[in-house]
Amino acid sequence: MAFTVAIDGPAAAGKGTISKAVAAHFGFAHLDTGLLYRATGRRTLDGTDPVTAAEQLLAADLEAGDLRTPDVAQAASRVAAIPEVRKALVDFQRAFARRDGGAVLDGRDIGTVICPDADVKLFVTATDDVRAERRLKELLGSGHDTDYDEVLADLRSRDARDSARAAAPLKPADDAVTLDTSTMDIDAAVAAAITIINETLT
Ligand code: CDP
Ligand code: CDP
Repeated sequence: MAFTVAIDGPAAAGKGTISKAVAAHFGFAHLDTGLLYRATGRRTLDGTDPVTAAEQLLAADLEAGDLRTPDVAQAASRVAAIPEVRKALVDFQRAFARRDGGAVLDGRDIGTVICPDADVKLFVTATDDVRAERRLKELLGSGHDTDYDEVLADLRSRDARDSARAAAPLKPADDAVTLDTSTMDIDAAVAAAITIINETLT
């Protein structure tokens, strides 16, 4: 049986962390759709055409080591505004969402465009300051040379571009439950998500 959980929200809100934990808890598969745009964006950094990059995306691209850098995040946000790029990535995401045994997808447009009929929709948010602190810690921990102001600027510029674009903009679905994790640690945020999903499952 298919059961789809859609998790959307702005940059570094905790979507991936919550999705991973929820998938492990319920035995669902997890797709971080941001990686599709990051891998596409990364390919364009050497001059590859964005639509060609999206159409020719390979599983190996998603495993590249440097997808988490701010440069690649910016490239992802730029290619993500191109309707033909999004179109090239739709079928793969929808097929993943329908797989037997349940699926969690996280991104920007899962509840609005990719899976408008998802069984559960969460919109995960946190204040800009909290998100920048979390992402800064993560980047410094993995050896990147950056600082608070640079991280905050990256998050804010991507959120602005992602929200303003015509194609599948970042916004909560009408029937999404908003989860503000500003004052929640990871365990509390995961527990809140599991509670919401259990209400639908039972
Ligand atoms: O997927 P998204 O960009 O929304 O966020 P993430 O990569 O899951 O989380 C960004 C960072 O915040 C990670 O280092 C998480 O460990 C951390 N985090 C946190 O400190 N508290 C939370 N409630 C959720 C995430
Ligand atoms: O981890 P973080 O929230 O910082 O970013 P991400 O989820 O890896 O997404 C990187 C970029 O891909 C976003 O800024 C969006 O422009 C784009 N994206 C999108 O347009 N639609 C999605 N479903 C997922 C990501």
